[in-house]
Amino acid sequence: MLIWNRDIDSSEYERARFLPRPGHADYTAFMKYGGFNDFRGGGRFSGRITAPLVMAGALAKKLLNLVDIEVLAHTIAIGGIKAQPKGLDEIRQVDRNPLKCADTEAAEEMLKVIERAKKEGDSVGGIIEGTALKVPAGLGEPVFGTLEGELAKALFAIPAVKGVEFGSGFSAANKKGSENNDSFIIKNNKIATATNNAGGILGGISNGMPIVVRVAVKPTSSIAKSQETVNMESMESASLTIKGRHDTCIVPRAVPAVEAMIAVTLCDFAMRAGLIPRVIK
Ligand SMILES: Cc1cc2nc3c(=O)[nH]c(=O)nc-3n(C[C@H](O)[C@H](O)[C@H](O)COP(=O)(O)O)c2cc1C
Repeated sequence: MLIWNRDIDSSEYERARFLPRPGHADYTAFMKYGGFNDFRGGGRFSGRITAPLVMAGALAKKLLNLVDIEVLAHTIAIGGIKAQPKGLDEIRQVDRNPLKCADTEAAEEMLKVIERAKKEGDSVGGIIEGTALKVPAGLGEPVFGTLEGELAKALFAIPAVKGVEFGSGFSAANKKGSENNDSFIIKNNKIATATNNAGGILGGISNGMPIVVRVAVKPTSSIAKSQETVNMESMESASLTIKGRHDTCIVPRAVPAVEAMIAVTLCDFAMRAGLIPRVIK
């Protein structure tokens, strides 16, 4: 698969070649590659890198379809506004909404917050939730290849992702065991749990419940507001105002990438477990 991109404008990047953008990877890439980093658009640190991730995800989703596993992702917060999606039907239709949010009322508020930040030359972040349905119990390769670990690794490959939590996640730290434990029950002659605070994973192995993972996306670092930086060539202080073509909020664009990385990771585990054949005729 190949994506041709002729809509290129690197002029802004030429201007600020030696001025690392605060919050972006310009400085670390410059140090890592000894000045040979691709400054024209951020190179591999650009959000563009998510396009091939989504391509791989499309293939993985087709393979997961063979074993009925469904992967969904949607926006659950932007700029502090939280969504309250009603159900799976709304989540399955998020592509209809420009913010990929399954709560249309919250999406309207989110849009206002984004527009306000844009006017101020600023940016906002948010949270994406990913869900995988009908994942059978038993996927995951402890100790170092846990399902949580591999999913987190794949999700952290998405630029601007700064946090990953499963199930009750960080809120589990403030709960009692009696509140956080998911009681086992028999449902349709199968073992299930009454709640899903574990986010579908126990001991790094899927437990048959939906896998629920949330991803924190930081606010876009390239903002129009004047910021302090340094000139890496002259070693002097400098100020930077970024023009370029940057989104005020990355979250909606990252939703398909989250879906893709979950699909690729689950596809890998399903193949390792022999659920999906390695050769399909
Ligand atoms: C889909 C997508 C689009 C992005 N677009 C931009 C952008 O327009 N401007 C920007 O400064 N960062 C953008 N980013 C984020 C940067 O690529 C990212 O912050 C940078 O590589 C530093 O990595 P880190 O934030 O993971 O530490 C985007 C990220 C994604 C996932």
